[in-house]
This record gives sequence, structure tokens and C-alpha cells, in this order.
Amino acid sequence: MSISIQNLHFQYENNHPIFNGCSLSIHQGELVAILGLSGSGKSTLLRLIAGLEKPTSGTIIMNEMTLSSSNIFVDPSKRQIGMVFQDYALFPHLSVYENIAFGLFKLKKNEKEPIVNDMLQTVGLLDKKDYYPHELSGGQQQRVALARSLVANPKVLLLDEPFSNLDTELRTQIRKDLKTILAERNITGIFATHDLSDAKDIADRMLVLKEGLFLEKSID
Ligand SMILES: Nc1ncnc2c1ncn2[C@@H]1O[C@H](COP(=O)(O)OP(=O)(O)OP(=O)(O)O)[C@@H](O)[C@H]1O
Ligand SMILES: [Mg+2]
Repeated sequence: MSISIQNLHFQYENNHPIFNGCSLSIHQGELVAILGLSGSGKSTLLRLIAGLEKPTSGTIIMNEMTLSSSNIFVDPSKRQIGMVFQDYALFPHLSVYENIAFGLFKLKKNEKEPIVNDMLQTVGLLDKKDYYPHELSGGQQQRVALARSLVANPKVLLLDEPFSNLDTELRTQIRKDLKTILAERNITGIFATHDLSDAKDIADRMLVLKEGLFLEKSID
């Protein structure tokens, strides 16, 4: 799905404006990296696209469907947009398996099992399926969060600093896997990162968010 943002304005209550009329177009199937300093608004942009924040004004359109405008606001659960949060936001009282299966509540147990096991295999956590989040390292929790959002078959996947807690080897591996998974399923991806090498390695396009505007950055 393509994403088109037009004339976006947003500010948190009692804070200065973060977006002051910016626009952004992302094509179907593209993997776009959003770079920018801490506090520049990367997470806020993802939250606005996911529908976790409401723009002050402006429109957000996915394909032909308006998600957010002056008189329309589509509920986050109806957007077919997956999000992996900066702090993972796993359910502490659910096991790894249950965390991943959470989004598949409509399916029967025997239908869920192969999907979840396949995803556990993809992110290398099959042997940790019965662990609880507090028993996992940061990088492992990050992979559970990624798996949880992918099993729901999103059309657009938003990732907030998805590689920040992974060691170098795992980081390279997960980056490659993510790129492959998104390409195979034709999922449009947008990820926020501080890390230029993360962006260069897998993004089709890099944008730097600075003072509420997106500046194109060349990959090479
Ligand atoms: N819930 C909130 N209420 C008020 N202000 C907020 C809230 N969340 C973020 N902000 C402010 O909005 C600005 C942008 O924050 P945001 O989290 O989007 O930045 P970021 O680019 O993701 O930073 P980082 O790289 O550190 O994750 C910051 O100045 C922050 O203080
Ligand atoms: Mg952030």
C-alpha cells in the first residue's frame, strides 16, 4: 500500500509544533528509513500513521483510503498497519508463543500453531517459545515484537528503532530477514533509526526528519 501525507500539522499538548505543514509520499512496497536526531519526531510520525495520535490538521491516505483528515479518523485496529515499538510493548504475562499468537485471535488453535511456529523459526526463537518477556534479552524481545506484528499480515509495517538492541551479527541477519520478509509479502515498510548504516543497508530510500521537514538523503 502507498502512503500519502499532505500538509501535516501536529503538536503534543503544551509542546511546540513537531509538524508544521509537511508532506510525504511512500510508494507501495517501498522500504523507507526515517533518520533524524533524538526528539526530531520520528516516533511521532509513526504514531500518526498508525493512528495512535491524531493530526491537528492535514490528511493521511493509504492507497485510496483516507485514514485521517479533518472529518475522518480510522481506528488504528482497522488500518492494517503493524507497528513495532521502540520499547517493544510486549505483554509481560504472556509467553513468547502467546505474544506472537495474540494478533491471530480469530483463528483456531490448530490454525495458529504452524503460523506462529514458522514465525518463531524466522526470528530464531523457537527454543524460547515458552519463555516470558522478562526472561529474554533486549534483542530477543525485539524479535518477538517483530514476529508479533508480522503474523497479523499487515499491509504496512512501521518499525521504531527495530535494530537498536541487537549485536552486530544478529543485526545484519535481522536486517536482511526483515528486508526479505517485507519484499516477499509486498509490505510497505517505514522504519525510524538513528543509525545511518541500518538505513543504508536495507532502505530503498532515506529521509532525514529535521525541524518538521523531510529531506531526501542519497543512499550512496
Ligand atoms: N506524549 C508526549 N507528550 C508531549 N510531548 C511529547 C510526547 N511524546 C514525545 N513528545 C515530544 O515530541 C518530540 C518528538 O518526540 P519523538 O519521540 O517523536 O522523537 P524521536 O525522533 O522519535 O526521538 P528518539 O530518536 O529519541 O526516539 C520531543 O520533543 C518529545 O519531547
Ligand atoms: Mg523515537
